[in-house]
Amino acid sequence: MFTGKRETLGAANLNRVSDRTFSPNLLMTNSVNAYRAPSFAYWGSKTKQAPAICASAPPTGDIFAEVFAGRGNVFWQASSVLDYAHWWLNDTRTGDFFSAIKRVGHKVVVPERDGSSSHHLFYKEQCRRLSGKNYSDEARVLEPYLTRNGGGYLAVGARTSGGGPGAEGYTRSLRQAHQIMHATNPVITNWDYEQVLECLGPNDFAMVDPPYIGASVGSYGAADLDHKRLIIWLKYAKFRWILCEYPHLVCRRTFGQPFWSKRVHRPCHPDRPRYF
Ligand SMILES: C[S@@+](CC[C@H](N)C(=O)[O-])C[C@H]1O[C@@H](n2cnc3c(N)ncnc32)[C@H](O)[C@@H]1O
Repeated sequence: MFTGKRETLGAANLNRVSDRTFSPNLLMTNSVNAYRAPSFAYWGSKTKQAPAICASAPPTGDIFAEVFAGRGNVFWQASSVLDYAHWWLNDTRTGDFFSAIKRVGHKVVVPERDGSSSHHLFYKEQCRRLSGKNYSDEARVLEPYLTRNGGGYLAVGARTSGGGPGAEGYTRSLRQAHQIMHATNPVITNWDYEQVLECLGPNDFAMVDPPYIGASVGSYGAADLDHKRLIIWLKYAKFRWILCEYPHLVCRRTFGQPFWSKRVHRPCHPDRPRYF
């Protein structure tokens, strides 16, 4: 993860970054709500990295904008440990997912596979039942549960025996996410990211988790945006930000060394080492 010059971060955050090594347990037990935040499996999602991201983000501010929100896996955690006046979820593809959670996340029934049906048949049948041209709210909120790696009905097809959340865990995530949506009332948009960045100022924070340079995961990919433009946006940003990206030379030349990195095993980038 990259960020701007240290002085662009808030003073409190500087202390947090320099004074201690991050410990997920510390963050979770210090949080107001010591509970497991919702999570929606998705190729490229940041559920596991969200505690580190939240620990390094400015702890307070006016707007917290998830500029490439995906399934909101940073937002769900950030909303319980950071103190922002306004929340903003933006993604060209997944805006309807958040709106649907707000409407029906408290009551949708998550179908459970019984032992008599194979994974393949069960999830395929459910996908067939729910997908279609006019997605219902139910279909939208169940998409990460029913499809392969949460990649979407149209992108990568039905979930397989490869794993994913159980019906009980997914139901819990939906119910919690519904509560968070109502407690924080985020703005939801499906704009191109540049429109969002144009609106942000010095007291705002942008969480920037775009499709990685050169990578593709099926449901979205590097061709979605011009990464050079994004790098220029961040280099001259008036707002505070964190960028998730592979440690490409162009990023290191522009921003210096990543302040946090981790090897990950993701099948989205065949040629390069899997860093987060
Ligand atoms: C790596 S995923 C984000 C994952 C998210 N942080 C999470 O943990 O769930 C990148 C997202 O960027 C979105 N996206 C791609 N191009 C975009 C653009 N030009 N403007 C806004 N969103 C875009 C994709 O639809 C995709 O959901």
